[in-house]
Amino acid sequence: MVNPSMQAKLDQLAAWRAKTAEGGGPQRVTQQKAAGKSTARERLAMLLDPGTFEEIDPFVRGDHNANPDSPEPVGEGVVTGFGRIHGRPVFCFSQDFTIYGGSVGELHSRKICKVMDLAYRAGTPFIGINDSGGARIQEGVDSLGAYGEIFARNARLSGVIPQISVILGPCAGGAVYSPALTDFTFVADGISNMFITGPQVTKAATGEDVTFEELGGALAHSTKSGVAHFRAPGEDACLRLVRVLLEYLPSNNQELPPAAAAQEPQGSPEELLAVVPPEPHKGYDVRDVLVRILDGGRLLEVHQEFAPNAVVGFGRLAGQACGVVANQPRFLAGCLDIDGSDKIARFVRFCDAFNIPLLTFVDVPGFLPGIAQEHRGIIRHGAKILYAYAEATVPKLAVILRKAYGGAYVAMSSRGIGADVALAWPTAEIAVMGPEGAAQVLYRNELAAASDPAELLARRTAEYRERYANPYVACARGMVDDVIDPRTTRERLCRALSVLSDKREDRPPRKHGNIPL
Ligand code: HXC
Repeated sequence: MVNPSMQAKLDQLAAWRAKTAEGGGPQRVTQQKAAGKSTARERLAMLLDPGTFEEIDPFVRGDHNANPDSPEPVGEGVVTGFGRIHGRPVFCFSQDFTIYGGSVGELHSRKICKVMDLAYRAGTPFIGINDSGGARIQEGVDSLGAYGEIFARNARLSGVIPQISVILGPCAGGAVYSPALTDFTFVADGISNMFITGPQVTKAATGEDVTFEELGGALAHSTKSGVAHFRAPGEDACLRLVRVLLEYLPSNNQELPPAAAAQEPQGSPEELLAVVPPEPHKGYDVRDVLVRILDGGRLLEVHQEFAPNAVVGFGRLAGQACGVVANQPRFLAGCLDIDGSDKIARFVRFCDAFNIPLLTFVDVPGFLPGIAQEHRGIIRHGAKILYAYAEATVPKLAVILRKAYGGAYVAMSSRGIGADVALAWPTAEIAVMGPEGAAQVLYRNELAAASDPAELLARRTAEYRERYANPYVACARGMVDDVIDPRTTRERLCRALSVLSDKREDRPPRKHGNIPL
């Protein structure tokens, strides 16, 4: 029998709890649904293992009003707490657009910062669902300071715990910088919107007439800006994709990524013999190689729609999670350009920070030529790949499938910059440059004097190809460990990975290096 005074307190708690669950009230919830969006709590339920969410700070409110019947909504426009994904703990927040448009004020930020600090101390991933009008205008500069507190934590947690941002609504102005500081950003078609300046300001400043969607919709950020790493057709698919990503990630930088049962790859090893075309200039889909090597033929591509001349993503070899990097000869002949360099370098650094071994598949004719690339800084962007691979201390395994020319060869996890294992298929061509370009330089005078320069160039190119465009020159110098039968690629990589599983590599003590940004 509960005494009457306790019963009154329990009734009050139940009434207050019910009020917190209402968000901004039924009318605002209806508006949220009419916009094709779920509520903040529904989203957390989709993200987390069923029934695992525990809310923290549901009663936070800025008006110092402790009266449960106050008409003001409770919770400060953000739902925070912890739960589990695949049984492993995560801390998270979900902005509630039904309360002050999910805008960020001092207490809203304080709630987010509390779960960030807890995630850091507990060593768990941190996931934020963003749906906000940005800085709470009524709070003036306090809301800017509040954002600063979040950004500072994003930077401090970087490389310690995985940080994931899901954009399910507006994310405007300086607010975009918290997602930009996290490791992965997810967007959903027709729902996500990220921009520094909206269409109105854009038009006033530049005269460009654009819609929200064109400016900062899901497609724009997954294909053009590279701000988004994953795009999904809707909220549910987007949140499910976050769960898939977490299958590959450790909870923090002190842990190894979770292992899984080994699975056979797609197709048969025999098929690998037919994927790379014999013609050196012919494109092919490097994913046709990857699926025949990785467990279950599965690759979770990151930045799938951005810089398609490079492929990066997570897969498994005999159950061990790996970061996979490959040139994609289907686009730009697999050349490394500015965006491709950023894509690869950032992925390599993430994998290194979180103890995920790197598998690199090389078919690269070089860095992309042209004045546009030179003037936009292919030199400093390309240098990021070199830096990232050289800096990485996780096991680094490379397989050269076909072309590996010049600086791009060196950049793509070559032995020189620290690959632990460098293998080549018999189709590999490892050289300073392509045979035709090399013949043009080496035989310039002879070609200028020739009666039939085209015939001479073809002959000299063939000679060069015969002599240098193969893996054995690099093998003879120890730059490639072995030339392998493509059908044995998976078993060679599995064996190498297992002997390197306890790899330790030191770096000199320093505050931090200075990656060319
Ligand atoms: C306070 C806000 C708000 C904000 C929206 N609301 N944004 N309240 N501060 N920043 C409120 C609205 O007033 C409204 O309340 C309710 O949320 C729902 O907003 P609507 O405008 O009705 O929704 P919608 O039509 O869907 O438009 C969404 C929107 C728009 C595009 C996000 O609300 C908007 O443009 N908001 C302002 C965006 C902005 O300029 N933010 C500041 C950016 S600068 P009522 O009660 O009227 O229904 C910034 C700097 C960050 O963020 C710097 C960090 C370093």
